[in-house]
Amino acid sequence: MRFALAGTPLSRRVRLWGGLTLFSYVLLHLSNHALGLISLGAMERGLTWALLLWRSPPGMVLLYTALITHLGLGLWALYRRRTLRMPAWEATQLVLGLAIPALLLSHIAGTRVTDALLGTTPSYARVLLFFWVFDPTAGVRQVCLLLIVWIHGCMGLHFWLRFRRWYPRVALAFFAVALLVPVLALLGFAAGAREAAALLARTPGLPRDLMRTPQPVTPAERARPGEIQRAMLATYGTALIGVLIARVARERLRRRRGMIRVSYPERRDVLVPLGWSVLEASRFGRVPHASACGGRGRCSTCRIRVLGDLRGLPAPSTAERRVLERVSAPPNVRLACQLRPAGDIAVVPLMPASLSAQAAALQVGARHGQEREIAVLFADLRGFTRLAEHRLPYDVVFFLNRYFEAVGTAVTDAGGIVNQFTGDGVMALFGVEKGAAAGCRQALVAAAAMVARVRELSQALGDELSAPLRIGIGIHSGPTVVGGMGYGQAFYLTAVGDTVHVAARLEALTKEYECELVISDAVAMRAGVPTTELARHELTLRNRQAPLTVLVVDSAERLAGRLAGASDTVSASP
Ligand code: FES
Repeated sequence: MRFALAGTPLSRRVRLWGGLTLFSYVLLHLSNHALGLISLGAMERGLTWALLLWRSPPGMVLLYTALITHLGLGLWALYRRRTLRMPAWEATQLVLGLAIPALLLSHIAGTRVTDALLGTTPSYARVLLFFWVFDPTAGVRQVCLLLIVWIHGCMGLHFWLRFRRWYPRVALAFFAVALLVPVLALLGFAAGAREAAALLARTPGLPRDLMRTPQPVTPAERARPGEIQRAMLATYGTALIGVLIARVARERLRRRRGMIRVSYPERRDVLVPLGWSVLEASRFGRVPHASACGGRGRCSTCRIRVLGDLRGLPAPSTAERRVLERVSAPPNVRLACQLRPAGDIAVVPLMPASLSAQAAALQVGARHGQEREIAVLFADLRGFTRLAEHRLPYDVVFFLNRYFEAVGTAVTDAGGIVNQFTGDGVMALFGVEKGAAAGCRQALVAAAAMVARVRELSQALGDELSAPLRIGIGIHSGPTVVGGMGYGQAFYLTAVGDTVHVAARLEALTKEYECELVISDAVAMRAGVPTTELARHELTLRNRQAPLTVLVVDSAERLAGRLAGASDTVSASP
């Protein structure tokens, strides 16, 4: 049964529910700390209520099951990772998660284990005096633990919820709570500790009272919690080292079983052991690749088009199929994080490597349509009909695929989304995620890259062409309705509205003005690019009352060069 292993939806769900239980525990614990801002007595009363919940038999079973499964499945997920190359947020989450048990075990030994073995009464005053007066170094460690646990939990929650359509609306409030809770907890901790220290000054016998046990205990019994703490730490350390050693051993074995080649556009090949996913290969080979959910098979941003024969590919799992259906992907589109090819494979990542969770959510949930101000780009290859004449159909398809690869990469590298290829035409959207101003800058960068790549393609084809390839591009920016549209397998993210028609019209004008690029003045203004040297025309367009000012650009590359911070807008140059 595949679902019994980590990396499958069931294990992920168990890990998630374990994490949520632990998060609830931590939230209550920190709220209890915050009661120190009222008084030490309020902290103690809060503790009594918390213990009623967490030290009741069901509470203990829930808490310890959550702790053990979350930790165990976390280690298992670490073992299953084929590569430790990962985005910074994932690495942070992982390192914080691994640090928690090491710091937490001493706290558990000093509280829960001590109370259970020696019969001491749980007390805030005892713990606060220990951290504040008797061992401030341990106190600093405790504060670090508190922050690490909280950040780890908030990151987990954020990465779980960020694909929800409602999440962007509450994200700011979530962030405010995430900031406020530890600050109040630390202030409460300090206030309670100061009160306990003042109590100690008035009552020198306080520590003895707080450590009072129902029966006398021998020194050996008193040392027992410390021994258990060391044993737990050694067990965790051994498990962690064991996982790392097992990873190395597994990879050696896999390498012996064989390697596969994953080929990307622009002749980039990555050799990885059999059994790796395409996303793991991308990360290993440092190929920019979107993966907003971190390879958990939830966001669909890692999707790839598989080139060539599909028959040798393993069938998608139910979970992968569900995500692919959600974005109406055709059969040659797969999730790179889920696909583990059994042989060499050629793929094209379909989303810009920098695609964020918000854009992913928009793409996944875009069926309903949203009004957005974006930039729309149309491009068309000059004289394609003439070029296609007297050529075999196979040659035409080969040529078009190279052309689409060149211009498609230029679009995605600049941060745009290729919307559709029709004939020799391309439509692309920019600013779906970051807004119109960023979209206009990205579109100008993409236009320059398209011109450059078409020139390179032209040079590569050399004698096969009667004349160098040329491209005409039109860009306009304005309101559109962006959404997933179409039917069945032809369902994809697109934009409709007057802005789209105007952009197409501007592209057609490049023939009339014999230039590379025509942009509307809205694009120039939003991009903040100087336009004094550009020729201007006033156009009257159908369905528009006001005339439209357009700018004629002879060199898209020169214009993009004038763009302030143009390099920042290119997100994923190979
Ligand atoms: S990385 Fe999110 S589905 Fe693959």
